[in-house]
Amino acid sequence: MSDRIHTLSGYFHEYQKSVADPENFWAKIADSFHWKKRWDKTLEWDFEGPDVKWFLNGKLNITENILERHLYTMGDKPAIIWEPNEPGDPNRIITYMELYEEVCRFSNVLVEKGVEKGDKVIIYMPMVPEAAIAMLACARVGAVHSVVFAGFSSNALADRIIDCKAKVVLTSDGNFRGKKKIPVKSVVDEALEHTDLIETMIVFQRTGQEVTMKEGRDFWWHEAIEGKSKSHEAVEMDSEDELFILYTSGSTGKPKGVVHTCGGYMIYSKYTFENVFQYTPGDVYWCTADVGWITGHSYIVYGPLLTGATTIMFEGVPTYPNPGRFWEIVDKYKVNQFYTAPTAIRALQVHGTEPIAPYKLDSLKVLGSVGEPINEEAWHWYHTHIGKTKCPIVDTWWQTETGGIMVSPLAGITPNKPAFATLPLPGVQLAIMDPEGKELKGNSVEGNLCIKFPWPGMIRTTYGDHDRCKQTYFAAYKGMYFTGDGVKRDHDGYYRILGRVDDVINVSGHRMGTAEVENAINEHPLVVESAVVGYPHPVKGQGIYAYVICDMSNRTEANLVNEIKASVTNMIGPIAKPDKIQIVPGLPKTRSGKIMRRILRKIAEGNMDSLGDTSTLLDPDIVDKIIAGRKE
Ligand code: PRX
Repeated sequence: MSDRIHTLSGYFHEYQKSVADPENFWAKIADSFHWKKRWDKTLEWDFEGPDVKWFLNGKLNITENILERHLYTMGDKPAIIWEPNEPGDPNRIITYMELYEEVCRFSNVLVEKGVEKGDKVIIYMPMVPEAAIAMLACARVGAVHSVVFAGFSSNALADRIIDCKAKVVLTSDGNFRGKKKIPVKSVVDEALEHTDLIETMIVFQRTGQEVTMKEGRDFWWHEAIEGKSKSHEAVEMDSEDELFILYTSGSTGKPKGVVHTCGGYMIYSKYTFENVFQYTPGDVYWCTADVGWITGHSYIVYGPLLTGATTIMFEGVPTYPNPGRFWEIVDKYKVNQFYTAPTAIRALQVHGTEPIAPYKLDSLKVLGSVGEPINEEAWHWYHTHIGKTKCPIVDTWWQTETGGIMVSPLAGITPNKPAFATLPLPGVQLAIMDPEGKELKGNSVEGNLCIKFPWPGMIRTTYGDHDRCKQTYFAAYKGMYFTGDGVKRDHDGYYRILGRVDDVINVSGHRMGTAEVENAINEHPLVVESAVVGYPHPVKGQGIYAYVICDMSNRTEANLVNEIKASVTNMIGPIAKPDKIQIVPGLPKTRSGKIMRRILRKIAEGNMDSLGDTSTLLDPDIVDKIIAGRKE
């Protein structure tokens, strides 16, 4: 059954209902899912704890709502279409029946390897259907998956394994991305030198490259599934049992494990998918994200598959073998809804319209954007050249913590305004707060974005450290969830997201904590201290600018810069590598020793005229020295 809104007045009506009586609003939607046992109470909440529970004592398995639910009505319909990195190579089309069988087979493998309800399973895999099968098999047996983006380094992977106390890793031998063949299993092998928690590793063979298999611990995926039954009874889960943990960066310390639970996430990911994209049966939908991020979880795997949609998984990159690759795929599968990140749009925009010319793109009905603010120029390019001015753009604002889309147009229903995420979805009660903690009511206001009332897909805790969850999200404004984003509500009541107001930077749509990058830089033995800030970057949205104090005794600057970059790649991964590194004699600090990041940000942006008052600095002269050595 569909809970799709069809008109703008329908949206306003649903929104009003969702605020007036949230429990009944969500209960009605949840009733269209398959529950092993219906819940007793719809919601219990307290943002002080925080303690949020939806659909209390409801029993379910999310995979029954993806697999069994669609088997008899659409068993032969494609669930996942997989497009490989290399255009000429065979693709794979997996029907709902096949997905059911593969998930069951792999569930049987997990059980054979001793995986039990509540166990943590790390998935460190490239974009192959087996990554989705692995996620669903975990959910089916009640294990908690934690997908780690396969571009993270062995150190970052080890941190996550240790933090969530995983006992199984699912991976692949290697990965094809553009021209590159990337080792994957060897990264896991390196990570496992830091921990002996992992009892079992299952390796999907993708590239055929040589790997070493450890007897008794490592098994090939294709051998493990051989002869396994194609049925497996789904384990009964409570609504509030953990479904997955996904690590994300914050303004302090190491990445934290955002915990999502079975019932609320299921309802929210499907409801938002159907409504935002206006998916109708038979449509072909494509989200270009990686399953290692929340977008891949909610809008490649769970949301679309819960809706019975056909979802495309693409292994490659937008520019290989040429910048027309996305559009070739759109035409090949007659994609109806296309969802990508502004950074990808800008990267393609650089190549002009020639790579688009050979393609019709006439199947497209809806375009989506996610991950960072979309600038007006990119919005118009996307609208004109990809959507041929006839496709609405859904600029979807949300976060790993929100589980699903929170502020977005409903495609073709909510009038678009370039660079505006427009209006909150039903059930989402926003508040704009001023620095003193007062809510700014009415239109034409700007402040920090908070959420006043729980929604089913929201974060429940940060794994292993509930207090961190409280301090990060629920302490800044009493009784509210604080998003970390700045926002403006314009004269029409439309929302425009202005970007992070904390020490988090958004590089190519990837969230990066400045403290995390600084820690990685400081690993270099000659680094004394560092400070990292973001600056506007034409393609990435924000670039990473690092100011570093070093002991230069026996190195050239060029050598040192390369070594620092290598250190970051080694500690986190290539995505965190600073774009610019400036070796500085000192950092602008207050008398109490606090780094004045505001000044460093302005210098990185090239805004030297508006540095503000620097007289309170311990050493005001340092500012001129830093400006003199600024990297263009
Ligand atoms: O700053 C916002 C930005 O991305 C952050 C969340 O990052 P992450 O948890 O990695 O999730 C990304 C995919 C949902 C937000 O705090 N962000 C995300 N979408 C938008 C956005 N900023 C502006 N407009 C968006 N549409």
